[in-house]
Amino acid sequence: MERKELLELLNGLSTSEKIGQLVQLSGDFFDESMDVTETGPSEKIGLAEEYNLYNTGSILNVLQADKIYQLQKNYLEKSRHKIPLMFMSDIIYGFNTIFPIPIAQTCSWDFELIEQSAAISAEEAYYAGQQVTFSPMVDLVKDPRWGRVMESPGEDPYIGTMFSKSVVEGLQGKQANKIEEKKLAACVKHYAAYGAAESGRDYNGVDMSLSKFYNQYLPAYKAAVDAKVKLVMTAFNTLNDVPCTGNEWLNKQVLREELDFEGVLITDYAAIEELIAHGYASSPSDAARIALDAEVDIDMKTAVYANHLEKLIEENVLSIEQLDQAVLRVLELKNDLGLFENPYRGLVDESVPTAEDDHREVALELAEKSLVLLKNNGILPLKKDKKIALVGPYGDNANTLGMWAINGDPSRTITLKTGMEQVFSESYLSFAEGAPLIENIERLGFSSNITAGKVKLPEYDKGALLEAALKNAREADYIVVAFGEHVLESGEAGSKTDLRISEAQSDLITQLAELNKPMIGVIYSGRPNNITHLIDKFDALVYAWYPGSMGGLAVANILSGRSNPSGKLTMSFPRNEGQIPVYYYNYRTGRPIKSDNENSRFTSRYIDESNYPLFPFGYGLSYSDFRYHTISASSKEIKEKEKLEIRVKISNESNVQGDEVVQLYIQDKVASISRPSKELKASKRITIAPHSTEEVIFKLCIDDFSFFDNKGTSVLETGEFIIFVGSNAEETPLSLEISYIAS
Ligand code: GLC
Repeated sequence: MERKELLELLNGLSTSEKIGQLVQLSGDFFDESMDVTETGPSEKIGLAEEYNLYNTGSILNVLQADKIYQLQKNYLEKSRHKIPLMFMSDIIYGFNTIFPIPIAQTCSWDFELIEQSAAISAEEAYYAGQQVTFSPMVDLVKDPRWGRVMESPGEDPYIGTMFSKSVVEGLQGKQANKIEEKKLAACVKHYAAYGAAESGRDYNGVDMSLSKFYNQYLPAYKAAVDAKVKLVMTAFNTLNDVPCTGNEWLNKQVLREELDFEGVLITDYAAIEELIAHGYASSPSDAARIALDAEVDIDMKTAVYANHLEKLIEENVLSIEQLDQAVLRVLELKNDLGLFENPYRGLVDESVPTAEDDHREVALELAEKSLVLLKNNGILPLKKDKKIALVGPYGDNANTLGMWAINGDPSRTITLKTGMEQVFSESYLSFAEGAPLIENIERLGFSSNITAGKVKLPEYDKGALLEAALKNAREADYIVVAFGEHVLESGEAGSKTDLRISEAQSDLITQLAELNKPMIGVIYSGRPNNITHLIDKFDALVYAWYPGSMGGLAVANILSGRSNPSGKLTMSFPRNEGQIPVYYYNYRTGRPIKSDNENSRFTSRYIDESNYPLFPFGYGLSYSDFRYHTISASSKEIKEKEKLEIRVKISNESNVQGDEVVQLYIQDKVASISRPSKELKASKRITIAPHSTEEVIFKLCIDDFSFFDNKGTSVLETGEFIIFVGSNAEETPLSLEISYIAS
């Protein structure tokens, strides 16, 4: 439809019909029998009697294609204006084929593969009638107590921007406006800085300086807007005491004006009504006023817009122009999706591809690249034709998809046991659960029927479980222990203060270690756990995160050496919770610890713990042996109109071909605000053959050396910079100095 026609359509709507386009409900409002995926408080929302359901603009989280078809058909028959419904849901890291959780995906540092996984997710969801996905989630996180770290890209702004761009382009395609077939409209979330919740407690307030906001937290959202993301979702939290959902500075000045975002701003689940709970709105009507004044277009799952906008416009508290602006954005999005021409996009096309085997191959590759080898004393890769005792609650557990795989089917997940049986076919493999994965589920807070099944506790006898596991282990050459957190111990509202592995699993590990056999740990989790007390009990340790549909085979391929691990952490691992937040681009302080004496008093340190994480950002081992040799720069000076080339030589001294993720950091030595000790500015995954050397070339531009000051203004200042290159944030053996002289 042309814009002129859209405007005519808009002008032909009554005020209540216009308001309806800004209301998003779940499918059960139209069909009580519908099994919807509940993602928030399920109290009824109190729509006024006179509200006409067949004015509603969009529906969330209906996953079944046939239900979507029925809803759309029924709606178009009953609505006066015949504007099609728009269907949105949380397709965060897969639809039928489930990929690793985002914090794992970014550990691959393979942004092309991440883009490909997003494109596959879009295609699978497209053929199920999905039109919009609430993805990518790009909230930067430095605090693993916060459960949503599992769906985030981690602690680094550069990784966040690369992830954000890759997922938006994978989901939407690279064209500027129309959303083509097999693609979805993307919705970047949660705007903004939701990952900085105080104390790591979900939904808690966020405070930060403008320089921190603009330098660290905003870039990933900006990257999505620059990639033409169609929607932005407001976050639940306050930012500097103002709730994001009602924050005019954040939504009008920063998002609409500075980032030039012209798409749809949708709230998070019930967030408009939560302005009252924040103590920021005095009533639902007040909340409606605040939100529309803050240019929020769609009200997700409350009755606030539906019940109060009309009266606010009648009383001239809000203007019809404000309403029309919001409605037109929604109509433009529906138009970009081609819904006016085909309200059933993707649904009726019989040529549904059955390429899921290829999709699973991509899922396997991304899972293998997302796994991080944290320790290996040489025991890995495991020799074949040995006796392997696979022990632990994740040994044969299909629920390794993470909390947001809402359409994922665990029965189609390859478990570790299945993967190892396939890969270690000539070995004798025993399995014993050894310990319960979780013992207290009340605190998880899931009572609804939708999720109760996921946390139903099986009957178990702890002593018997342990005994059986020890028996198997005594008869084996290797012990592989698969353990970690239940998927619902992370994810939304999954904040924790104690990040250690459960007591029952720790006891199991301790008793297995006393057998003094080669022992390999495989940890399944949605966050960096506090594993400090476990490290020494293992000869090798693989962090599997929640690796998705092909996870078990990916882990088995790594353990066997069929795949050479290459994953690198995108989030620092704390030695203990007292260090949090611990991350690599920390402040230098006026009293930095002395490298030659970490115990010198009156320096910025703890007297009971190291300053450094257990494992740093960018860390991950390989079966290869990479060495960093030389670094050079195309110039000693950074020039406005020229790229600065940094060349490094890296060799592989082993017999095993492998992938290395080469990382380039900078330090701005002196500036008008104190700058971090290091900032990641570029990375390259390279494959190096055995006993070979490769040259990596980085091309930096002037923007890589600018930053935002405490007014949120981008500045580029004369000064000296250090360029570091290495394999993680703490190991950067190559460095050189360059300068910039402002013209
Ligand atoms: C949830 C989440 C958000 C999700 C939305 C819709 O509360 O915060 O990430 O997209 O509701 O399900």
